[in-house]
Amino acid sequence: MKVLVTGGAGFIGSHLVDALVARGDAVTVLDDLSTGRRENLATAGGDVRLDVGSVADLDAVTRAVEGCEVVFHLAAVASVQRTVEAPIDTSAVNLGGSLHVLEAARAAGARRVVFAGSAAAYGDNPALPLRESETPRPLSPYAIEKLASEQYMRVWSQLYGLETVTLRFFNVFGPRQDPSSPYSGVISIFVDRLQAGRPATIYGDGGQTRDFVYVADVVRANLLAASVPEASGRTFNVARGEETSVRELYDTLRRLIGGGPEPILAEPRAGDIRHSRADIAAARQVLGFEPAHTVEEGLARLLASTAARRA
Ligand code: NAD
Ligand code: UD1
Repeated sequence: MKVLVTGGAGFIGSHLVDALVARGDAVTVLDDLSTGRRENLATAGGDVRLDVGSVADLDAVTRAVEGCEVVFHLAAVASVQRTVEAPIDTSAVNLGGSLHVLEAARAAGARRVVFAGSAAAYGDNPALPLRESETPRPLSPYAIEKLASEQYMRVWSQLYGLETVTLRFFNVFGPRQDPSSPYSGVISIFVDRLQAGRPATIYGDGGQTRDFVYVADVVRANLLAASVPEASGRTFNVARGEETSVRELYDTLRRLIGGGPEPILAEPRAGDIRHSRADIAAARQVLGFEPAHTVEEGLARLLASTAARRA
């Protein structure tokens, strides 16, 4: 099958490309390489074409989607901080890009679009575990852009019969996640510091929890979302459905590494959400999604991969 992966040179997208190539798909990647890297596509080998271009450019999307049956739309400015600083620019990518993908996919006669939504749509909604039917409470331009894109996805399936599926990813972790910004995923930062024998910072008391999901499970959810007929027009949480505290993460990593310094304790982050946990019943029932990696297994794999890269 011929498929397009927007954002395919990024952290999650490149793992999806690896899986698609491994099963024999012909993959086009549309990526502007703003945070993605060519090197992330090096392991895929096989049939991958990289179009360097932006989803904000309708012509680029139209060219990339030609002949594709399925589009995985992951391209986005994934930094919430960036969307706060430059909401007009990021909306052109995160919302405008989604509309371009839908229109280009429809014009090209593609069958299905799978969209990378976000748990950010729930904001600080305290109704745990979070179900897809909960009222969204976006707290940032990023969350609004993801949520509005989701609505476009749903409406395009109703108006035009283009099949669309939104996956609300929770806190994804794994190899190739960039640890270089203070707003990078907590696991990527902890691993980066602890493997270098340096302490990392815990904001607050470390009792805050997140629903961490290993990237291979997110890839699996994407593959299912592309193929299960009943998924069309719907939104699904992608998570483990479990909470892990930040302190627990730190201690597990130290144990897996075989030691390491105590964390630096700092003031809680402004606006930090205390607890987050998904209800994944819908993904289980409709997609047949079952997360295969515990957080600890995912951490062990991540450590092995980063240790190999350092060596
Ligand atoms: P990432 O930054 O590694 O991936 C985003 C990719 O999109 C990069 O390769 C980047 O170069 C590309 N991109 C950015 N702007 C573009 C543009 N205008 N045109 C074409 N390509 C562009 O981040 P990621 O964590 O792999 O995120 C992938 C998707 O998943 C994003 O849509 C993100 O919002 C979403 N998501 C991620 C998480 C998470 O925990 N990592 C959680 C929820 C949702
Ligand atoms: C995630 C998004 C964020 C978005 C939010 C919406 C990522 C990387 N971030 O934030 O952009 O606004 O969902 O729900 O996906 N922490 C530390 N030390 C660190 C880094 C983080 O203690 O060095 C703590 C944070 O304070 C937080 C937890 O770890 O309590 C997780 O942080 P992070 O990985 O940034 O994810 P979210 O806060 O869930």
